[in-house]
Amino acid sequence: MVAETTLAADDLIMPLFVRPGKKVHREITSMPGNYQMSVDRLVREVVALKDAGVNAAILFGIPETKDALGTSGFDDNGIVQRAVRAIKEEVDDFIVITDVCLCEYTDHGHCGVLDGDKVDNDSTLELLAKMALSHVRAGADLVAPSDMMDGRVARIRAALDAEHFTDVPIMAYSAKYASAFYGPFREAAESHPKFGDRKSYQMDAPNSDEALREVRLDIAEGADIVMVKPALAYLDIISRVKHETGYPVAAYSVSGEFAMVKAAAAKGWLNERAVALEILTAIRRAGADLILTYWAKDAAKWLKE
Ligand code: PBG
Repeated sequence: MVAETTLAADDLIMPLFVRPGKKVHREITSMPGNYQMSVDRLVREVVALKDAGVNAAILFGIPETKDALGTSGFDDNGIVQRAVRAIKEEVDDFIVITDVCLCEYTDHGHCGVLDGDKVDNDSTLELLAKMALSHVRAGADLVAPSDMMDGRVARIRAALDAEHFTDVPIMAYSAKYASAFYGPFREAAESHPKFGDRKSYQMDAPNSDEALREVRLDIAEGADIVMVKPALAYLDIISRVKHETGYPVAAYSVSGEFAMVKAAAAKGWLNERAVALEILTAIRRAGADLILTYWAKDAAKWLKE
């Protein structure tokens, strides 16, 4: 009765990885229990999530082809667009969120267009807007730009509004740090940068005021939900963002946070279930309204038991 924080299945968003093919269900080595799936298997997984009580998933695509501009990412018949259409056709009342970023679709693995060996912010915006629009045309309920280019929320908002998608919200990865915790994800999404790192566009771990500036910029540009990522090592940022903006806050408990608990649990050093629920509760206590987590389905089941 006196618990100050609750954790419920409908606070959780499951990240899912979709790739071409049929009956593909390939486990991601560093993220046990998570798979790259073809569209047919993905739809089944969404049904299983819904049965477990999870209402939302965020989709990442592994395309058939990659090029310098990430063209396959804004193809109306691209892998994520096909996945969204299939889910929408076969599952009712399930929130489909799409990750909007070029890194899964570019052959160099960076989140934007290159000018020499640098990512060019402004020429990337147009492509992100095209990608978001094609996801929404396919039926996405929400788009989540994760590229960290400046100005992309405004650009995406304008593109959506111009096609009368005025009520499709944007969940912006606003305070996204250049983190070593993304390692397993890059195996899952096949999105390792081929050279350099993402430090020119993602944030620097020592900074907290900067996170607030980034969040405020996104809110001014029209973000409806703002995200902090990673979560566990950035609980202070989640707390500041929630308390200083009052906005809906999502926190992304990233691949490395999941993998380290899985690895310790496999050795018998930690109790996965107890630790996972403690971590997710702590993220909620810090101020997150929503949590993107690879434990979404398991946590929903644990919470029911
Ligand atoms: C794409 C993106 C990344 C993650 C989500 N969207 C990776 C990155 O920026 O390199 C990471 C998610 C995770 O580690 O679970 N830009």
